[in-house]
Amino acid sequence: MSLKDSNRRFGWLSITNHWLTATLVIVMLFVGFYMAGLPRGPEKLQMIGMHKSIGITILALAILRLFWRARNPMPDMLGNPPAWRHLAARTVQFSLLGLILLMPISGWIMSSAGGHPVSFFGLFTLPPLVDKSKALGEAFHEIHEILAFVIIALLVIHVLAALKHAFLDRDATLLRMLGRPGRD
Ligand code: HEM
Repeated sequence: MSLKDSNRRFGWLSITNHWLTATLVIVMLFVGFYMAGLPRGPEKLQMIGMHKSIGITILALAILRLFWRARNPMPDMLGNPPAWRHLAARTVQFSLLGLILLMPISGWIMSSAGGHPVSFFGLFTLPPLVDKSKALGEAFHEIHEILAFVIIALLVIHVLAALKHAFLDRDATLLRMLGRPGRD
C-alpha cells in the first residue's frame, strides 16, 4: 500500500492517523467522563495527567493531518452521491476535524487558566496558553464538556454513515479506510 493518498485511495499514513485518532478520542471520552466524577485525590490527578498527554497526542495528529491534506488530494467519494449527501458527509468530516483541534485546545486553555501544568507524558511541559483566571478556567471547563457531547453526536452520525455504506450501499467506502481494495 502506498504512503500517499490518491483520488481513489487513502495511503497508509492517513489510514493509521484515522484509526489511531478514532481510538484515542473514544478512550478519552470514557476517561474524561470517568475522571470528572472522581473525588479530588491521587487517582484523579494521575488520570488527568494521562488525559492531558493523550489529548496533546490527538492535537499533534490533527495538525499532522492538516499538513498532510494540504499536500495530498482527499479521495473522491464513491458512488457519485447527490450534492446534498456529498455536502452532509463533508460537513460532518470537517466538523470532526475542527473538534479534534478545538477539544484539546479548550482543555489546554482550561488547564492554563487553572494554573495547572500540561506535561506531555512527563517528557516536557507545554507553555500556558492564557494567564491564570478562575472565570476563564470555569468557562473552558464548560466548553470542553459541551464539545464532548457534540463529538459524541457527530461520531454516531459518522459511524452510522460508514455502516450504511458497508451494509446497505455495499460500496468500498469503509473497506478503503481499512486499507482493503474492496468493490469500488
Ligand atoms: C480530543 C481530546 C479530548 C477529549 C475527547 C476530552 C474529553 C474530556 C471529557 C469527556 C471530559 C469530562 C468533561 C466533564 O464532564 O466535566 C474532560 C475533562 C477534562 N479534560 Fe479533556 N479531553 C480532550 C483533551 C484534553 C486536553 C488536551 C486537556 C489538557 C491539556 C484536557 C484537560 C481536561 C481537564 C483538566 C478536564 C477536567 C477534569 C476535572 O476537573 O474533572 N482534555 N475531557
